[in-house]
Parts: sequence; structure tokens; C-alpha cells
Amino acid sequence: MRKNIVAGNWKMNKNLQEGLDLVKDLQTALFSKKVKCDVVVCTPFIHLGAVNGMIDKTKVKLGAQNCADKVSGAYTGEISAEMVASTGAKYVILGHSERRAYYGETNDMLKEKVQLALANNLTPIFCIGEVLGEREAGQQNTVVKKQIEEGLFALSAEDFGKIVLAYEPVWAIGTGKTATSDQAQEMHAFIRQTVAAKYGQAVADATSILYGGSCNAANAKELFANPDVDGGLIGGASLKVDTFMPIVEAF
Ligand code: PGA
Repeated sequence: MRKNIVAGNWKMNKNLQEGLDLVKDLQTALFSKKVKCDVVVCTPFIHLGAVNGMIDKTKVKLGAQNCADKVSGAYTGEISAEMVASTGAKYVILGHSERRAYYGETNDMLKEKVQLALANNLTPIFCIGEVLGEREAGQQNTVVKKQIEEGLFALSAEDFGKIVLAYEPVWAIGTGKTATSDQAQEMHAFIRQTVAAKYGQAVADATSILYGGSCNAANAKELFANPDVDGGLIGGASLKVDTFMPIVEAF
């Protein structure tokens, strides 16, 4: 069955020393706890190798926040899926709305990234979600369906089974404005139905669908109690152990 996952997305925060300190403190906090979800930290690229060397992988799993849409070669400044995997990271966030909005990532590019991530045994955490105008126009389902279809539906059922989805309504990211528990459940159920229509109910039932967007200690419990919400992708609240741990413990 599907896993519950709480993944921290540090975004462009924490220098190397600060990042290592955060992971160290997080591990200490997790040490005595029996948590009911996988805990993932998605750090900037520069932290990956060092963090991998210090984590107890039964407690903390490691991910990147992006990878290139090319295998290798003359792409100055890019980091390939193979390079990410070589650090020991197991996850990679792909298609985050900030990458789509600020760096022009299209569903076509993401399709390539997903394939390269899978070819390197990385688990993509594939982000989907509508902007405020689309929600206000009632277009959220159409938008999210298109992102899933164009980014992921070229995959075989076997490969799709390796994907984690993250529904992140763009209007809720970093704004303090969370989707209500009902809005999250409604969309997550729609996403699961969309997956079921393409790959069958068994694949859909085995797919972890995380919620992201101003998820915090105060709302995590209610969000995660929904039958189709399998955890969270956490930005701001993942930057401190004190704000991240209560979300991890919300399961
Ligand atoms: P937030 O970010 O928790 O700060 O809203 C979530 C995300 O963008 O992944």
C-alpha cells in the first residue's frame, strides 16, 4: 500500500553549515520517536553529499529539488539526475510551481526529467497545482489533469508506480493561506481518480499524494486525516526542527 511521507523542501535556504546543523538536530529529534511516516529532506544540491554521509537512512531520507532535463554534457550550471543519484539521494522534487513559474519549466521538459530521474533510480516527487486565477475560474481540475497527463502519462504503469505526487495549490505556497481540508481532499480524490482511469485502481491506490502549501503544525493533522492525503511537502515550516517535527508527528 501507499506510504505516508512528510518531505521538507528547503528551497534556496541554508548555507552548508546551517543545513548540516538542521539535519543533525532533526535526527536527534527523530531518534527517540516512532513516527508513522517516511521523513524526507530535499536540500539544495550542495548539501546532498555531506547530508547523505551523516543520516541514518532508517530515519531520514534524502532528496534534491530539481535535476536537469538532459543526460550530461555542455549545460553549464546544470545538475543531472545521475549526479543527484551519485550523492546517495533517493528522491527528487520535479515540477515545483516555482520552477515552472520562474525558470520556465514546461510539461515537456518535466517529462524528460521524470524519465531521467527514474532511469537513475530516483523517486520523483512530482508537483502539480493551479494558480489563484484558475481556482477562481473553477479550472483547477482541468489544469491539474493536464499537468499529470502531459508530464507523466507517457510512463508505463510500472514506472508510474514509482512516482510520488504532490498537490500544491500555487495560491497556498508561502502565503499562509492553506487549502481547507475539504479542498485538499476533493482535489486529491480527483487526482487519484485521474490516475485510476489511466493505470487502474490498484496503481492509483498505491500512489502517495502529498499536500503542499502553508502546511504547518496547526493544520497538518486535519489535512493528513483525509483518506486521500498521504502526507505533505513542507516549505517554510521545514526550516526549523520545532516547526517541522509537529508535522512529522501529525500522523
Ligand atoms: P510552503 O511551501 O510550505 O512554504 O507553503 C511548500 C512548497 O512550496 O513546497
